Amino acid sequence: MIKEVHPLRGVRGILTPPPDKSISHRSAMFASLADGESLISNYSSAADPQSTLQCLRQLGVKWEQSDGVVKIIGVGRDGYINPDSPLDCGNSGTTMRLMGGILAGAGVHCEMIGDESLSARTMKRIIDPLTEMGCNIDGRDGKFAPLKIRGHNGVKGLRYPLPIASAQLKSAVLLAGLFGEEPTEVFEKEQSRDHTERLLGLKSVVHQGGKLISGSRKDKIPIQSYRVPGDFSAAAFWLVAGSIHRDSDLLLKSVGMNPTRTAAMTILEQMGGEFKKTNQKEEGREPVADIHVSPCELKGVTVDPLLIPNCIDELPILMVAMCFAEGKSVISGAEELRHKETDRLSAMAKILKNSGADIEEKPDGMVINGRPNFIPNPTTYPTWRDHRMAMAAAVMASRSNGKSQIQDAECTAISYPNFWDHLYGLS
Ligand code: S3P
Repeated sequence: MIKEVHPLRGVRGILTPPPDKSISHRSAMFASLADGESLISNYSSAADPQSTLQCLRQLGVKWEQSDGVVKIIGVGRDGYINPDSPLDCGNSGTTMRLMGGILAGAGVHCEMIGDESLSARTMKRIIDPLTEMGCNIDGRDGKFAPLKIRGHNGVKGLRYPLPIASAQLKSAVLLAGLFGEEPTEVFEKEQSRDHTERLLGLKSVVHQGGKLISGSRKDKIPIQSYRVPGDFSAAAFWLVAGSIHRDSDLLLKSVGMNPTRTAAMTILEQMGGEFKKTNQKEEGREPVADIHVSPCELKGVTVDPLLIPNCIDELPILMVAMCFAEGKSVISGAEELRHKETDRLSAMAKILKNSGADIEEKPDGMVINGRPNFIPNPTTYPTWRDHRMAMAAAVMASRSNGKSQIQDAECTAISYPNFWDHLYGLS
């Protein structure tokens, strides 16, 4: 499906971003492992978290979903059944990597499959440590989906320094560790999103300038009854849209403000972005706030590589903002972008070049020479069926002086089913 984007006259209105994808996945997985019933409200209707729910059903977990509330009857750590058909993770790396950790730990006999994009993403990063823990997991060519998981002779505790700042990898190891008698300890030097340890209440201590998180069979898995906050990663598209349009006055409601997720706002503030947080509170075990976005004058920035893990999903839309900032912006240390739903460094370089922006792709980042009065070409944007490419291109196109087209626009449903309604609803 092609969607047309016309130049926006203003970015004004009140938007409630969709429920957080990362938290939705985890809430369902952890609820299924708990003993008892969890009521998760504001569960995401996006394709990825729905893939997680479908996999759980095949594993014998009973759940009902109505008006954004999901009721899950936990089966406990040892309650999954061996599914009689492959578990389809669709496009979702979080489903495959986190459920992969859980199922390998539980020793469930199963096969996990994914779409073309997911089948091309490396799973070796989880296969290696899980194998070291005594789990029985293998993939096509030892590294890709389909993954085959079998029973094992017990999960051994592992002390694991994370080789990449990846919350999916961290979670896969910790989740498998929940099936071991001895503790599994993951050490992370650069902090990645911490929803797994927060929602499970895992022990986590500051250690040698990083964080040591541990878990074992002794950790009780809590019931997951709470409201899922709005997705900061989705809100980021509007933080940027509101910042690059001169006529903007936007209120984003109930946005998740977990500090391991919000580096994009910090970077936009360093660039001159103007945001006001109100109505700050806790929902579940996560901070949330409303964010008011005002027009501003953006200037170029050199992004601190330490912030990269905390804005990994927002880098594409930050690159759009940088095209409208006065002067040079530099992103480095972001090689991980090449391992997402598509190679997002190469894809964004093509999108930005199509728009006419002055950019240079680097092996681990991008250099962008921005101009406040930059006018993107009206053009057709490819998306590689990657939701974040489509949404970044749409925001870019909204500052053009003519009509643009976004290809395969339905892919936004992976994380943000009503993205186009929200875009077209701005005035
Ligand atoms: C996610 C972690 C991130 C992120 C992905 C969701 C998660 O991946 O890109 O969209 O829910 O844990 P990595 O942890 O592999 O960087």
